[in-house]
Amino acid sequence: MDIQLSKEELVIINKVAEAAAGLNRETYLVGGFVRDKILNRRTTDADFVCVGDALELAQLTAAKFSPAPSVEYFKNFGTAHIKINKQFDLEFVGARKESYSRNSRKPDVEPGTVADDQNRRDFTINAMAISLNKNDFGKLIDPFNGIQDLNDKIIRTPLEPVQTFSDDPLRMLRAIRFATQLGFTIEPGTWQGIVDTADRISIISQERITDELNKIIAAAKPSLGFDLLYKSGLLHIIFPKMTELAGAEYIDGYGHKDNFYHTLQVLDNLAEKSDDLWLRWAAILHDIAKPATKKFEDGHGWTFHGHEAVGGRMVPKIFAKLKLPQNEKMRFVKKMVEMHLRPIGLTKENITDSAIRRLLFDAGEDFESLMMLCEADITSKNKQKVKRFLENFQFVRMRCKDVEEKDHIRNWQPPITGEIIMQTFGLSPSKPVGMIKDAVKDAMLDGFIPNEFDAAYQFMLVKGKELGFTPL
Ligand code: CTP
Repeated sequence: MDIQLSKEELVIINKVAEAAAGLNRETYLVGGFVRDKILNRRTTDADFVCVGDALELAQLTAAKFSPAPSVEYFKNFGTAHIKINKQFDLEFVGARKESYSRNSRKPDVEPGTVADDQNRRDFTINAMAISLNKNDFGKLIDPFNGIQDLNDKIIRTPLEPVQTFSDDPLRMLRAIRFATQLGFTIEPGTWQGIVDTADRISIISQERITDELNKIIAAAKPSLGFDLLYKSGLLHIIFPKMTELAGAEYIDGYGHKDNFYHTLQVLDNLAEKSDDLWLRWAAILHDIAKPATKKFEDGHGWTFHGHEAVGGRMVPKIFAKLKLPQNEKMRFVKKMVEMHLRPIGLTKENITDSAIRRLLFDAGEDFESLMMLCEADITSKNKQKVKRFLENFQFVRMRCKDVEEKDHIRNWQPPITGEIIMQTFGLSPSKPVGMIKDAVKDAMLDGFIPNEFDAAYQFMLVKGKELGFTPL
């Protein structure tokens, strides 16, 4: 088998082989490492299967390194892990036969041969093994012709698809994820198996589902995966809100675009410019409230008024349901959804500096992300239109650059803090403190005062007096 291994990988694999020989234990490299090496993809995880006790093999392998890494053992799964140089993850498992009970992911496991172990794997391209045994070291053992499927770019289950998917329904998402990441096609029988087994995805934990979803989103062309998720029926189960975007309605000859495919196009456009998973989530969710805000106005057509604000409010709930983080990542996505129409409003000719300052202030450090999202949101098929819209955004960018150079708004910290206001007027924390603070901020953004401490301080005094307070 002609695969390229780095020096470090060779050293590691030789140590495993030596340990296996020392224990006289049949051992193989299997799964994703073999697949990725043949495809020449970067990988840092290597899985080893041995016939017998995997913990002992892991311990003897670890002892061959200096200093010896610790061995972590997961009794429930019968797997032992070693991390080498904080970089390589080695997993050892005893070859097994297993079948899964109908309503859980918990397998009934019995020891087995390497052939049994290959049978229970998800796809032919993941079921290849490379021998680490003395008599046939380096030999590829490929009972399901995975190498052919790799060459033909095909995802196929080794056994009956429905059995493979029933054993672990997450594999349906994995099939779509691999197809998306590798640009492979799912073999028709395997595809039918997914369609027939789709509802079994409900027994899988949200964390595992979301993990796969994130891998699809992180791929070069995520729309491939979402299209398959939609057509298989899986998306209706794992993320029904997104399927509500699909379809176009017509009344009196007025139609609107299919917002599901529009969203996928935005996602792909964005993926060409940014690897940021959370900005990609913002693309997925930017129009999520269109179904909820859709209205038909006589003589005017379809409107989606307020979908950005309603959509922003939906983000925390969707994140909670999908077990995505409830932290600044979520707040970033919410902010992007809420703001995604703002730059379009500034593409007209006579836009004031004040409006530009407000955009810079509200977008803050996320300004560039917001502009990328807006540019990705242009999905017209009309090349002239696309060109014109992009030029408009270029114009907004230029205005923003000029105003930013002049006024330094983006990382602006209010020069007048609540502390200063309270000390000046002898106030305790209360509503008027916030009102004065906002008034100073608005005066600065509206250009009544320059972005300087002295001017802001004077304005604060005036505003405080207006509200009936006297400086101490
Ligand atoms: N596997 C499986 N069924 C699953 C998960 C994994 O059969 N639900 C098998 C496959 O043979 C897979 C191997 O276990 O190749 C290792 O799994 P994992 O590390 O999760 O995936 P990889 O295939 O290595 O791919 P990736 O690292 O991209 O997830």
